[in-house]
Amino acid sequence: MELSQVMKERRSVRSFKDTPVSSEIIDNILEKASLAPETDNCNYYFGVIKDTDVKNQLAKATLWADWIAKAPVLFVCCGDISSDLKNLNDNDYSVVGTKYRYGEEVVNFLREHKDRKACKKLLLASPVYIAAQHIILTAVSHGLRGCIVDFMDLEKINHILGLPEHITCQVVVPVGYSNEIPKQKDKFSIDDRVFYNHWDK
Ligand SMILES: Cc1cc2nc3c(=O)[nH]c(=O)nc-3n(C[C@H](O)[C@H](O)[C@H](O)COP(=O)(O)O)c2cc1C
Repeated sequence: MELSQVMKERRSVRSFKDTPVSSEIIDNILEKASLAPETDNCNYYFGVIKDTDVKNQLAKATLWADWIAKAPVLFVCCGDISSDLKNLNDNDYSVVGTKYRYGEEVVNFLREHKDRKACKKLLLASPVYIAAQHIILTAVSHGLRGCIVDFMDLEKINHILGLPEHITCQVVVPVGYSNEIPKQKDKFSIDDRVFYNHWDK
């Protein structure tokens, strides 16, 4: 399927048929996830969850997303959070870059905060979403649908999956054949949402 068609057909779907997803499709989705851009300090890891009991446990660790238990496969998108701003030199690229982006006060707060794991999860969440989107778009290209799910107790999920301390789940992507017929998304109006050179709204 053409990329533009895939993008048009992508909608978040939360109800799936029982039809299993073939291992060829799962492998192809993982291959495309492996092409997502990674940052210097955050490698991605992906859990492929088909076991009903594990899916049920994960579903209970989400906020209002118990429906994920019914998806034939869950892709658990994880990141390596070994790197810690606190231990990096002031001249380190990530420290300098994060200060440039958010300001020194925020970086100092994050470096001094006692819950190191929470700070690392917060800082290294966004790159993993890019891989999650690769998963969703590839799923759509195979006639499947998915949804980004991120409101969940990350520590509970990490515990259920037996992840080591330096790896954390960030996003879960349930994937399957849709039981809903989602409408194509309404495009936003270019006039309303786009500005050129300077904000002109
Ligand atoms: C960053 C992000 C996080 C999301 N987290 C959740 C979530 O935790 N649970 C959920 O049901 N949907 C979640 N969604 C899906 C949105 O609700 C959905 O994208 C939105 O309703 C727009 O619908 P569409 O994806 O069909 O265009 C998330 C979407 C994004 C972009």
